[in-house]
Amino acid sequence: MAHVRSLFFKGPLADVENKAVTAFKLGRPSDVIWNITNRCNLLCDHCYMAADAHVRPNELTDEETIALVHQMGERGLPALFLSGGEPMMRKNFWEILELARSYGIRVTVSTNCTLMTRDAAKRLKANGIDWIATSLYGPAEFHDPMVGVAGTHDRVINAIKILREEGVGVAIKTAISAATWPYVYDLIQEAKDLDCGLIYFCDLITSGRSEGEDDGRITPEQWRELGDFIVEDILSEESKLEWDIGAMPSFIPFVAEKFVERGIDVSNGLERLKTISACPVGKGHMNINSEGGIMPCQFAQDWTVGSIREMSLQDAVAELYKLDVRESEGACSPEACEYSRICRGCRAKAWQRTGDPMAEDVTCLLHAEFDRSELADKLAATPEFARSAPCSAPGSC
Ligand SMILES: C[S@@+](CC[C@H](N)C(=O)[O-])C[C@H]1O[C@@H](n2cnc3c(N)ncnc32)[C@H](O)[C@@H]1O
Ligand code: SF4
Ligand code: SF4
Repeated sequence: MAHVRSLFFKGPLADVENKAVTAFKLGRPSDVIWNITNRCNLLCDHCYMAADAHVRPNELTDEETIALVHQMGERGLPALFLSGGEPMMRKNFWEILELARSYGIRVTVSTNCTLMTRDAAKRLKANGIDWIATSLYGPAEFHDPMVGVAGTHDRVINAIKILREEGVGVAIKTAISAATWPYVYDLIQEAKDLDCGLIYFCDLITSGRSEGEDDGRITPEQWRELGDFIVEDILSEESKLEWDIGAMPSFIPFVAEKFVERGIDVSNGLERLKTISACPVGKGHMNINSEGGIMPCQFAQDWTVGSIREMSLQDAVAELYKLDVRESEGACSPEACEYSRICRGCRAKAWQRTGDPMAEDVTCLLHAEFDRSELADKLAATPEFARSAPCSAPGSC
């Protein structure tokens, strides 16, 4: 996760990037992504959370969620993402949000927007919520079958219009896959037309309902094509769009090289990256699942380092920081890659592929020696390479 424009230039989220660096230097959590429930009213084909209508049996109680928000506030957490499942389905959603805001925590709601009403938008605005992030995958005839509920696309578009009218910023999120790829450029234009300020593209995570679908990813060439488009957008006079890229840390050195080719000074951004790196694992970033499991990354729900029921937030932070002192290995090691310490490769993909979080990231955009067919052969020959168990977080299915 990295806000590309704000990392290298003076984008709208430069302040957030700076706060993350400061929190990291102080040994504090820089940001927490909290799946406050795994319950969802949609049934997206690709959902790495495998979210559905069920509440996980061991979900944090309302009292536990409130105690956790107090800890976050007392630890000076800069940024909190309320996610899910569908976070607005949790019955004390507003209590959590309003308490977090009372501590001055910057809260972003990651929602499918199906429960967004004008009153909800007004309440978000009244609580000083700058941004919500919502998912859009393409036109209605593609989006609705993908999320499993007819009429969702139009509800999302309507919600975006209401949110913008009420002055809440909207980020459009999409999973980048072979299925969504045909719609990507139209989606970018639609985001601009709807006055959305941020686009978040996440490489397909092959767990949950996408388990084993490594062939569903787009190719490195397609990612590089998208990277070229984003570089042009950032450098154009007209666009102010912010871009955030998930599960593809090598995108950052890729675009940095493009900026350098254009004679642009990227030294400030690279300096920040020496501290926080493009993959945020172990850099103050924390994910907490609906049952209190503490994860280095939201994309690897089976990789937990403890439970918030058994350790304080500060102990959890200390545990996660231990990952920072470990070097990435193989092609991502400092000996093999000049970007090792600023990129580090996607640690969640390494974990899912090998069970070793420090293994190399075979989806790198810069090192062509990673060949898809070679990966497919490896996966076929060695079942443990495909390790990914989305439901093995403590107490889950
Ligand atoms: C897990 S959802 C939770 C928030 C909310 N329910 C929503 O869908 O916006 C957060 C984001 O993860 C994305 N996502 C889900 N499964 C994914 C996968 N396998 N690969 C990449 N992104 C995925 C969704 O598209 C969504 O934008
Ligand atoms: S991606 Fe979001 S909306 Fe879709 S099933 Fe998963 S949690 Fe629900
Ligand atoms: S080899 Fe690894 S660390 Fe180097 S750029 Fe690629 S993904 Fe990043």
